[in-house]
Amino acid sequence: MFSTSSKTNLGSNAQTLGEALIEALERPERRISPIWFYDERGSALFEDITQLPSYYLTRTEIKILDDNLEEISRAIGRDRLVIELGSGSSRKTFRLLRALDQPAGYVPVDISAKYLHQAAARLSSKLPSLPVVALVADFTTEFQLPPSLPPHRNRLGFFPGSTVGNLEVAEAQSLLMHCHTILGDEATFLIGVDLDKSPEVLISAYDDPEGVTAEFNRNLLKRINRELGLAIDPSAFAHEARYLTNPARIEMHLVATVDQTLEISGRTYRLAAGESFHTETSHKYTVEDFSRLAEKAGWELSHYWCDTEKRFAVLLLTAAKVK
Ligand code: AVJ
Repeated sequence: MFSTSSKTNLGSNAQTLGEALIEALERPERRISPIWFYDERGSALFEDITQLPSYYLTRTEIKILDDNLEEISRAIGRDRLVIELGSGSSRKTFRLLRALDQPAGYVPVDISAKYLHQAAARLSSKLPSLPVVALVADFTTEFQLPPSLPPHRNRLGFFPGSTVGNLEVAEAQSLLMHCHTILGDEATFLIGVDLDKSPEVLISAYDDPEGVTAEFNRNLLKRINRELGLAIDPSAFAHEARYLTNPARIEMHLVATVDQTLEISGRTYRLAAGESFHTETSHKYTVEDFSRLAEKAGWELSHYWCDTEKRFAVLLLTAAKVK
């Protein structure tokens, strides 16, 4: 059983790539949201990143899930309606859904309609008795669940991949608060979080010797050229991954190696050599820091699972009872 919510939830105030670029160029931080990485080529490059020896995140999270599936499933309980934020390929979800005790249904939420429908159909064919309702929405905005969803008190939010790390700490807190509202006060939430660790390990995860992450980062410039008809020279930008603290995070930048002049809709913008576009932040937490953040957003830590090297954590949160 597979249906698509007829209502997409992309919000009329959603920015276009051109607007995002101009806004970046007009601010000193020149920051562009990482959502713009994921065109078709960018999504394929991200899949390649997940296979890299130095990019331990995906592999480690899958192993944590596989090694602890029974315990995770028991902690989650039966009859859950699973709502996944940024479902992408739904690869991790299949493992989870197969292990859960009588899941009530699956609602993948993703901004990319094409990917979403393919993944939902694939999952539906593997688990034919599970009701699947795909929802096209940007989970970083205050998205709503479709009213057609059967009312169900036992909801499980699923947010793997440490995607939460792409949000600023305050934004992560607002998202968790919003999820508490839409999932209800009987909800649980399973979330994957990358842990703070040595800068060397983190930097090589975001600046691999094979150069795939550099290509992923530069693909943003190629996408801008393709979609906005510009002629930025991607080879005039260096990929850089920087480790920063307070809060602990990796920032990815595209650093101009020579002075650049960009002409966009009749306006001229200059980038001096050494100045950069800031294309992504990936926050790195400790389990304690993240559960404190979740608490401020109305959730309590009920269990967590790590790999033996404590690189990555999967946390199970329960909606805090309103006192
Ligand atoms: C999928 C957002 C979690 O931040 O690690 C991988 C994306 N960026 N390499 C991350 C990414 C550079 C990834 N997330």
